Amino acid sequence: SSFSTILTETSEDIGMISLNRPEVLNTLNIRMVEEIVQALEQFDQDPFIKVIVLKGQGRAFAAGADIDEMMNKNSIELELLNQFTVWDRITWIKKPIIGAVHGYVLGGGFELALCCDILLSSDDAEFGFPEVSLGIMPGAGGTQRLTKLIGRSNAMKLLLSGERFSAKTAKELGIVSAAVPNEIVVEEAMKLARLLAQKPSLSLRMIKESVHKAVDLPLFEGMQAERKNFYLLFSSEDQKEGMRAFKEKRAPDFKGK
Ligand code: HXC
Repeated sequence: SSFSTILTETSEDIGMISLNRPEVLNTLNIRMVEEIVQALEQFDQDPFIKVIVLKGQGRAFAAGADIDEMMNKNSIELELLNQFTVWDRITWIKKPIIGAVHGYVLGGGFELALCCDILLSSDDAEFGFPEVSLGIMPGAGGTQRLTKLIGRSNAMKLLLSGERFSAKTAKELGIVSAAVPNEIVVEEAMKLARLLAQKPSLSLRMIKESVHKAVDLPLFEGMQAERKNFYLLFSSEDQKEGMRAFKEKRAPDFKGK
C-alpha cells in the first residue's frame, strides 16, 4: 500500500488497520492521522469489507499526538493548519469500527480509541488524557466524547487530573466493553468482527447511524431518526430474507442489500 505510518490488511471480509510507528509508541503525527482516515474511507467504500478493526503495533496503541510536531506551533498556525477536520471524517465511516487497544492509550491516542464504535482492551492497557500536564488540553474530541460516554463528574476527574487509569477502571466506567489478556485482544476483536460480518450489513449501518444520533440529538429527534431507519430497512432484500428464513426455520442467506 501507499501508507508509511500504518499497515492495512484484510482477512476475508474484515479490514484491519495497524498504527505502525512502534519506536515512538505510535504517536499520532498529522501524516498518520491522515493515513488512518484514508484507510478507514477505503475500507468503508470496499464492497467486500463489512467490519473494520483498528489496533497498534508494538507495545502501545498510541501515546498521544506527536509532541515534537506540536511544540513550536502558535495559535494562528494551528488555525490555518486546521488539522482536526480530518478527524471529523471518521464520523462519516458507516461500517462498524472495533478498536483493539493495548499498552498506552493516551491523549490523541485515547481520542482515536473513542472514535471506535466498540472498544476491546488488553487488561494491561493504561488510559489517560495527559494534556493538562503539558499546558494544553484535548483537541480531537476528548472533552466531548469522554463526557458523553462516562458523564461529567468522572470525565472531569480524568481530564483535570490527567491521571492514567487501568483497563479495569476503563471497563468499570464503560469506556471499553471488555478487558482481556494482551495475547488475545486482537483475536477477540477479530472474533467479534467475524460475528458482526455475518449480520446483514444494512442493519449494521442503520443501527450504527441511529446510535450516533442518540449521542448527538435530543431524544425526540433521535427517535424520529431511528424510526426512519427502521422503515428504510423494509426496502432491503435482507429484511425479506431474514423474516422469511425465520418462518421457514432455516438459516438466512444475507446479501448485504
Ligand atoms: C512525541 C513521544 C510521545 C509523544 C512518546 N514519545 N510519546 N514523542 N510525542 N506524545 C517518544 C519518546 O520521546 C521516546 O522517544 C519514545 O517515544 C518511547 O517513549 P519513552 O518515553 O521512552 O517510553 P516509556 O518510558 O515507556 O514512557 C511511555 C510514556 C511516555 C509514559 C507513554 O512516553 C509519555 O509520557 N509520553 C507522552 C504522553 C503524552 O503526554 N501524550 C499526550 C500528547 S498531547 P526517544 O526518542 O526519547 O526514545 C496530545 C494532544 C492531542 O495527545 C491533540 C489532538 C490530536
